[in-house]
Amino acid sequence: MRRRSVALLLLVAATYLPVSIATDTIDLTASIAGNQTLLSARGAFRLGFFSPPGSPAGRTYIGIWYARIPVQTVVWVANRQNPVVQSPGVLKLSPDGRLVIVDGQNTTVWSSSAPTGDVTTKATAQLLDSGNLVVSSDGSGSSQSVAWQSFDYPTDTQLPGMKVGVDHRSGFAWNMTSWSSPADPSPGQYTVKLITGGLPEFFLFRGPAKIFTTGPWNGVVLTGVPELKTEAYTFVLVSNPNETYSTYYISSPSLLTRLVVEGSTGLLQRYVWADGAWNNFWYHPTDPCDSYARCGPFGFAYCDTAHSPECSCLPGFQPRSRKWSFRDGSGGCIRKTKLSCGDGDGFWPVNNMKLPEATNATVHADMTLDECRQLCLANCSCRAYSAANISGGVNRGCVIWATDLLNMRQYPAVVQDLYIRLAQSDVDALNVSGKRRRTLVIAVAAAISGALLLAAAGCLCFWRCKARRKRQLQAPGSGDNVLPFRTRKHPDLSPAREDDENKMSCGEDDLDLPLFDLAVILAATDNFAAESKLGEGGFGPVYLGRLEDGQEVAVKRLSKKSSQGVEEFKNEVRLIAKLQHRNLVRLLGCCIDDDERLLVYEFMHNNSLDTFIFGQFSSSFVAQEKTRNHFPISNEHTVNLSQ
Ligand SMILES: *[C@@H]1O[C@H](CO)[C@@H](O)[C@H](O)[C@H]1NC(C)=O
Ligand SMILES: *[C@@H]1O[C@H](CO)[C@@H](O)[C@H](O)[C@H]1NC(C)=O
Ligand SMILES: *[C@@H]1O[C@H](CO)[C@@H](O)[C@H](O)[C@H]1NC(C)=O
Ligand SMILES: *[C@@H]1O[C@H](CO)[C@@H](O)[C@H](O)[C@H]1NC(C)=O
Ligand SMILES: *[C@@H]1O[C@H](CO)[C@@H](O)[C@H](O)[C@H]1NC(C)=O
Ligand SMILES: *[C@@H]1O[C@H](CO)[C@@H](O)[C@H](O)[C@H]1NC(C)=O
Ligand SMILES: *[C@@H]1O[C@H](CO)[C@@H](O)[C@H](O)[C@H]1NC(C)=O
Ligand SMILES: *[C@@H]1O[C@H](CO)[C@@H](O)[C@H](O)[C@H]1NC(C)=O
Repeated sequence: MRRRSVALLLLVAATYLPVSIATDTIDLTASIAGNQTLLSARGAFRLGFFSPPGSPAGRTYIGIWYARIPVQTVVWVANRQNPVVQSPGVLKLSPDGRLVIVDGQNTTVWSSSAPTGDVTTKATAQLLDSGNLVVSSDGSGSSQSVAWQSFDYPTDTQLPGMKVGVDHRSGFAWNMTSWSSPADPSPGQYTVKLITGGLPEFFLFRGPAKIFTTGPWNGVVLTGVPELKTEAYTFVLVSNPNETYSTYYISSPSLLTRLVVEGSTGLLQRYVWADGAWNNFWYHPTDPCDSYARCGPFGFAYCDTAHSPECSCLPGFQPRSRKWSFRDGSGGCIRKTKLSCGDGDGFWPVNNMKLPEATNATVHADMTLDECRQLCLANCSCRAYSAANISGGVNRGCVIWATDLLNMRQYPAVVQDLYIRLAQSDVDALNVSGKRRRTLVIAVAAAISGALLLAAAGCLCFWRCKARRKRQLQAPGSGDNVLPFRTRKHPDLSPAREDDENKMSCGEDDLDLPLFDLAVILAATDNFAAESKLGEGGFGPVYLGRLEDGQEVAVKRLSKKSSQGVEEFKNEVRLIAKLQHRNLVRLLGCCIDDDERLLVYEFMHNNSLDTFIFGQFSSSFVAQEKTRNHFPISNEHTVNLSQ
């Protein structure tokens, strides 16, 4: 009874409030209604009612979105399953500490879960600059007073500082669930969850089916996503008896980045805001080798650019089925020789692997690797063991797999020995042949590194040689308009040019990105011919070009109207270069010439991911599976592993 009268009062009050509440907080007497919003203190995030584009008319949701960018990007939704249909909706803080949304008929359509602890009449709900909406039981905003927070209820987005994981005390899970569709924020098919099991591991589910895992955490990396470590943000995995979760922090608050599980693609994607648009910096599953347990028990996948994805068997194993083809290894592999389950067994180390799924593995945190081996040997169902934590390059603890080994892929970036149990006769056979082969592998490795070096040198040389300018378009800008880094305006007047050439880059010394000559780009795009225009991106048109060597590139020409200064451009290029990853559209270089600011990307055809890479382009900018950080896997190497 009392609550209703308060609600009535609030509603009456609300109608007399000005439209825009210039605050980040509501208390028991305030509310936000219709198009009123909360703005976080430093203006990073806004909270209010919104309607996703394409949603049925009149439906509104309470959401949180970035306040400073022109594209409304919703990072959290309160009433994702219960839209307000009878507008206007009102969000208020009820005296019991719950956030409540009522519709135009005063019907409660949503309320938050019960707050922890006692809530006073001074309670507030405050939108923080992190994007977190926090109910403070006494209005102090102190961390002890947090009675409820939106960060504990992620929708499809993990913002910096937000947890994804499990609270072991309450059994509560911080999981991410995709939207049903871009027009409908209700929970969709895709979920990201942590399964702690033996070693912590994140899973992407489609409905009940596992479709991708990040690989177990080994104290250093998630062994299936080794690229998580970048300079621009810090990935953290916390595991203690109370809780296990991942989170991340950004080095600069001006960097807008979000991790999203997308309903339309079923991908876990990281976006970074740059150049007036959301850029997709990585996503998983990246390639067929990422799909869950693709090669079956005791098989592993490997992908590189030269070969289509293939499956191979662990050493000492062979394909289960005669029909086993490289393309379909789902039947998996079986032992060449049965285990004797005693002294007749040994172990063979494999390395550079995404560790097998470890949800059913057993961890003994205080064991040495040697004790681990003894434990495994003494237990007939043990199939493999490894160190549980290789932080600092030191083997600590013990993890034992007493199940089929599933979901492995070759990942050169993962440096950790996994000891698989085999009949001693198979170990001996591998050891003898290994001696011969190991030299071969080393030779092959050396040859490949050599080839890579050569290729790299070739590239450098290529850029240097290409830098001969045949200026075709002389913009009449002021020559005294000195940029804080080198431009190519009057190269012929610059005697130091040849010496400087090696250092030339778009973002000064800390960035090693080639600077393209404008003439090269003009030649490649036929002087920005209308026919070569692919579309119009966030801050300017994009052209398809072909370099002299035949490589196709996409050239983003930042519009001269865009007010982006040299500093911003430099920052952006630096950001893109730092974050770019093998499976992204690669930034090849840039070009600065008078008021021309150009970004040169790799261009790939025929991929349906195009729209996600640079959202607004209608034409195909496409993600490419790059093995830049990867050792190409030679056939010899594979033979070595699989025999
Ligand atoms: C907010 O809503 C009111 C009434 O519905 C309308 O008059 C006003 O123009 C809106 N303000 C904005 C900024 O949309
Ligand atoms: C809802 O509350 C408003 C304001 O107190 C009141 O005018 C209106 O009649 C109420 N509507 C219903 C359906 O109770
Ligand atoms: C995600 O976590 C919430 C809260 O713990 C839980 O209610 C929900 O069932 C979980 N979703 C899935 C798909 O597991
Ligand atoms: C791994 O070992 C390091 C160094 O002892 C420790 O700081 C870290 O907490 C350990 N990680 C896990 C998950 O046990
Ligand atoms: C676990 O939670 C308890 C209270 O619930 C707290 O006292 C303890 O410090 C926590 N331990 C860790 C490692 O956070
Ligand atoms: C883990 O154990 C459960 C229950 O026994 C089983 O259903 C599941 O398939 C096992 N997972 C793996 C990867 O072995
Ligand atoms: C063997 O290891 C598994 C998994 O660690 C365990 O469940 C089982 O009890 C062990 N068996 C024996 C005989 O120790
Ligand atoms: C291979 O053989 C050498 C001696 O010939 C032995 O020291 C080594 O431990 C063997 N390696 C494995 C993995 O068994």
